Amino acid sequence: MSDPNDVDLERRKLLKVVACTLGACGVAAAVTPFVSALWPSKMTQAANEPITVDIRALHVGEMLTVHWHAKPVWVIRRSKEACDELRQLNVNLLDPDSLVDQQPAFAQNPYRALRPDILILVGLCTHLGCIPNFMPQALSLGPAWEGGFLCPCHGSRFDLAGRVFKHMPAPKNLFVPPYHFLDEHTVVIG
Ligand code: FES
Repeated sequence: MSDPNDVDLERRKLLKVVACTLGACGVAAAVTPFVSALWPSKMTQAANEPITVDIRALHVGEMLTVHWHAKPVWVIRRSKEACDELRQLNVNLLDPDSLVDQQPAFAQNPYRALRPDILILVGLCTHLGCIPNFMPQALSLGPAWEGGFLCPCHGSRFDLAGRVFKHMPAPKNLFVPPYHFLDEHTVVIG
């Protein structure tokens, strides 16, 4: 006949194994949604991937809006006259030489671009993130206006390279995203 103490011991061991197994399952179930919440969704990954833009149909003076990193990105074809204008020193600009880190190194020039004719900017005001309006026509905002962007929220003005004017609410130039050209008509943003 078996000793009742042995039976108790066996039962206790069995209960311990069951309790540990259930505990491990519970922890796994609790942690899984947390871990998957940290993992970027397929949609987020897609939004953050580089995008390829065909600019063949973009005429001088026109703007194309695409989306990258869930932000509007403008692609603008500038005229030769507009590019020449950007080369003049404009004492009314806050950061005319793009010294603040708001662009890749290749865009730290008067055009803030790889190619003078093609401007690429994130279309969000550096004040509070509104979307500025594209106002390419010279003189449309007064005698000194050479074309650029006007933020509808608090009136910040930017030139046709996205450089902010002095005494505006926006503290910095518009952001230039990283990009490169695959060929004359194709640009990859991101
Ligand atoms: S958000 Fe553009 S000026 Fe305030």
